[in-house]
Amino acid sequence: MNWSLDPNLPTSGIREILNQALARPGIIRLETGEPNFSPPQHVLEAFIQASQAGHNRYTATEGIMLLRTAISAKLHRVNHIQRSEYEILVTPGGIPGLFLAFMGVAKSGDEILVPDPGWPDYLGGLASLGIQAVPYALEAPQYKPDLDRMSALVTERTRAVVLNVPGNPTGRLLTKAETKALCDWAVAHDLWIISDEVYDQIIFEGRAFSPAQWVPDRTLGVYSFSKTYAMTGWRLGYLTGPRFAIESLTRVAMGVWSSVSEPLQYAGAAALTGPQDVVDRMCRAYQRRRDLSKHILDRFNIQTSHPDGAFYLLAYIGTALSSRDFALRLLEEEGVAVAPGSAFGAQAEHWVRISLASSEEDLNEGLARLARFAERMHGQGQPRTL
Ligand SMILES: Cc1ncc(COP(=O)(O)O)c(C=O)c1O
Repeated sequence: MNWSLDPNLPTSGIREILNQALARPGIIRLETGEPNFSPPQHVLEAFIQASQAGHNRYTATEGIMLLRTAISAKLHRVNHIQRSEYEILVTPGGIPGLFLAFMGVAKSGDEILVPDPGWPDYLGGLASLGIQAVPYALEAPQYKPDLDRMSALVTERTRAVVLNVPGNPTGRLLTKAETKALCDWAVAHDLWIISDEVYDQIIFEGRAFSPAQWVPDRTLGVYSFSKTYAMTGWRLGYLTGPRFAIESLTRVAMGVWSSVSEPLQYAGAAALTGPQDVVDRMCRAYQRRRDLSKHILDRFNIQTSHPDGAFYLLAYIGTALSSRDFALRLLEEEGVAVAPGSAFGAQAEHWVRISLASSEEDLNEGLARLARFAERMHGQGQPRTL
């Protein structure tokens, strides 16, 4: 009997810490990107009402028209892009959207450029499709793509570049000029852009630009309700792209998830068309936590990133320990869980990622313990900067 999947597909380096944190009571959890808010009440009510009204059936694979119309309006309002209902596929979260996008643009043996540091979960999806992930460096402290260096990574097998703005774990935005330059670069190399925009509405300063503004025909956009509406466990997102791509990926989705939960789609429409002040409130809370966390770590001379959005902060931990050992020992000795930088790629090896989606109370206590631990590891007073 044959089993064709590689038993050693990559898993996320955050999971190792997460699993250990879950196994021990009383751990301060700063390792995962899980908002500590509840979904908005009116969204919850819309779910219940839809179910009570009998919307408990299979739907069209691409999603109900009500939701796709609301998504099209949101893409116009928030992302400044034009996508019709026929250029949208409703997905069970951002992750399946990414997987379908990878599948659409590349086949086994092809290559896709991924950010380093970048979200580790891209790697499992790519590897399971036999697609080679080629990391492109986002260098601290700016964390911006260097197009000349990226050109050197392009081969005849390169099919796409993954762009994640604002990014996990860097939180950085690209300016309009930088986004346009990246679009021109993708055209010059004839590449798709897989634009992971799941944090598009968590922005503290500045604004995000979608490549679909300039190159809609070569952009597949991945969006999610998970972070914007604190709905991680509900599993709702959407994929956008040119109509032919969405039509063909809808056929794949038909054979994978058939359709997304019907009452959930009604709830999604309510989230998009209802009051948005809740999104702003959560965003301001993440911003306050960013400022608070930077302030705490500054006091201990620990260098940090300066995220423009998303809800992560990178803290420089120096070179005395690998980031994995740092995270494991911090958990063991201080009861604080953080994500090791190495989980996000070689560029973040001397950093750990702190999730600002955790409460202020946990950040206060957890970061004080982290600083104490770093002090023990490195000796008093030594500057912990790059
Ligand atoms: C960069 C990035 N993309 C995509 C996702 C997927 O989110 P979801 O599948 O919950 O929509 C996440 C979740 O952490 C993420 O950080």
